[in-house]
Amino acid sequence: MTIATKMAAAIQSSSWIRRMFEEGAELKAKLGAANVFDFTLGNPDLEPPAVVKEALLAALQDPRPGLHGYMPNAGLPATRQAVAAHLSTVHGLAFTADDVIMTCGAAGALNIILKALLDPWDEVIVLAPFFPEYLFYVENHGGVVRVVETDQDFLPVLDRIGEAINDHTRAIIINSPNNPTGQVYDADLLHSLGEMLTVQSRRFGRPIYLINDEPYRRIVYDHLEVPSVFQAYPDALVATSFSKDLSLPGERLGYVAINPQAQARQELLAALVLANRILGFVNAPALLQRALLHLMDTSVDITPYVRRRELFCRILAESGYQFVPPRGAFYLFPQSPLANDVAFVQALKEENILAVPGRGFGRPGYFRLAFCVPESTIVAAAPGFARVMTRVRG
Ligand SMILES: Cc1ncc(COP(=O)(O)O)c(C=O)c1O
Repeated sequence: MTIATKMAAAIQSSSWIRRMFEEGAELKAKLGAANVFDFTLGNPDLEPPAVVKEALLAALQDPRPGLHGYMPNAGLPATRQAVAAHLSTVHGLAFTADDVIMTCGAAGALNIILKALLDPWDEVIVLAPFFPEYLFYVENHGGVVRVVETDQDFLPVLDRIGEAINDHTRAIIINSPNNPTGQVYDADLLHSLGEMLTVQSRRFGRPIYLINDEPYRRIVYDHLEVPSVFQAYPDALVATSFSKDLSLPGERLGYVAINPQAQARQELLAALVLANRILGFVNAPALLQRALLHLMDTSVDITPYVRRRELFCRILAESGYQFVPPRGAFYLFPQSPLANDVAFVQALKEENILAVPGRGFGRPGYFRLAFCVPESTIVAAAPGFARVMTRVRG
């Protein structure tokens, strides 16, 4: 074999999202894109706000020399300062530029955190259903994933998490607002989790870090506010990006924020900065960082997501699907009417509807629908959803 055995295995087990996307591409080639209802990808279809383009053009036209050069691995000081000021307002804590490291998206942020924290065989708790890339990211850095199931509403169960913690546990990754479920954890839950982690960290004599992967923080419904993970626990980190709330996933800009109250903050910061360099990211894209200076208070107008969420929930409920209405992000995660979620997703495909089986997110028996697609796609798919339900009910 020419490639690493591990990579060959990873390619084989690689994401259901990609698999369904590729099957969808074949179907679109056969039937024409307009006749296929593709709900597989979390790729925002809304254009970035106009001010994003203006800020990018202004950054590009800045005549000062050297703007495209290397920079400190943590990012541009002015941008880190702007992010810190924003975080101070949102979280009610005093962040400085030192608490922020600019990264290549939330994916880059998670990878530098895990690189900074994990020794071989250290464990990371991941709550199912989960964003499937977490499994790869933990493995990238020699760690071991310990999966803990959430409850029927996709909320963490503290006793189960407590039972999974041992002297190898380094961190827990949570993701609120959540992909694939749309669930958002409330402040009481985060505080209880924080208290439990404080006790467990003392028990094992080192901090267990709480990482919130929160690229969907600004995409929430019914005037919900996403509570602060920093207020709930001192040894907390946030990994996030502008991929979803500015519709810029291809531009790869995000950051890590460290709680100003974290233990060993300086040491952690030094490790994160070095990780950004030696993982080959070096630094987050320069042009984007300069544009961001003027965009910290900007996000896409989520009105289309609000409307699609309402519409999709109504359509699915009318056909008899069971689901927890999403409180954030742009996904629905209904129960599969067939015990076998892969078989159900195949049945949907016969109606030219593309979805991702729940087992791709560590929760068989469900399926994911991404509603970052035009309203017309949801409306056009409605009869197909109804027909499949009638068919499988027999
Ligand atoms: C929960 C979650 N985390 C992280 C990412 C990666 O985001 P980015 O494009 O900013 O790396 C995604 C992208 O879909 C996601 O859904």
